Amino acid sequence: MLLCKLASIASFLHLQEKVACLSKVTKGDDMSNKRVQQQIKKSLSPELYQHSVGVAEMAVILAKQLGYDEKKAYLAGLLHDCARDWTERDLLRYAEKNGIEADKFSQKYPVLLHAAVGAAYVQDWGVDDNEILAAIRNHTLGYPGMSLLEQITYVADKIEQGRTYPGVEELRRTVHADFYQGLLAVAEQSISYILHKRQPLHPATISFWNWLVGQSKGE
Ligand SMILES: [Fe+2]
Ligand SMILES: [Fe+2]
Repeated sequence: MLLCKLASIASFLHLQEKVACLSKVTKGDDMSNKRVQQQIKKSLSPELYQHSVGVAEMAVILAKQLGYDEKKAYLAGLLHDCARDWTERDLLRYAEKNGIEADKFSQKYPVLLHAAVGAAYVQDWGVDDNEILAAIRNHTLGYPGMSLLEQITYVADKIEQGRTYPGVEELRRTVHADFYQGLLAVAEQSISYILHKRQPLHPATISFWNWLVGQSKGE
């Protein structure tokens, strides 16, 4: 029993070490990445920056688990909330100026626009990887047929180490045991939270949920 516990602590520490090492490699990897990382740190409040680093690190763990490109996962996680601190007014104004559709949901809850606005905004920093841009654009609402990087970013956002809401530990365990069951559980938690607040569900989120349920039943 004790040996078992020690082995699991050792493997956890090993994983942590690997993530720390990997983020150093990713950070020092090339100049443009470094510039983007300095840029994001300057743009966010300390709390949001800490959340973003947490998402980036969790995205790397998930990318490793799924055999996905860890560098891209790190960057998508780090940048996903780059417009989350913007005021509603700024989000609406930027969306209008840059041809980003603000549907009736975004008109009522402009914070929803931070994903699409963020994906447009980081292009000014030289980020042009379409998979990363899509992961930023779709991390909030989801949609049917999300790519693996979009799914990784969506899940990492909800279970990064800084998240402390009830049930998050269980979600982390499910995600690490079986990513697709975990994705379903994370979406369920996130949708339940919106319903609990008696807020409307965006049609993209409804379609995302229906797609996920269909996937899990092999449809
Ligand atoms: Fe976000
Ligand atoms: Fe986030």
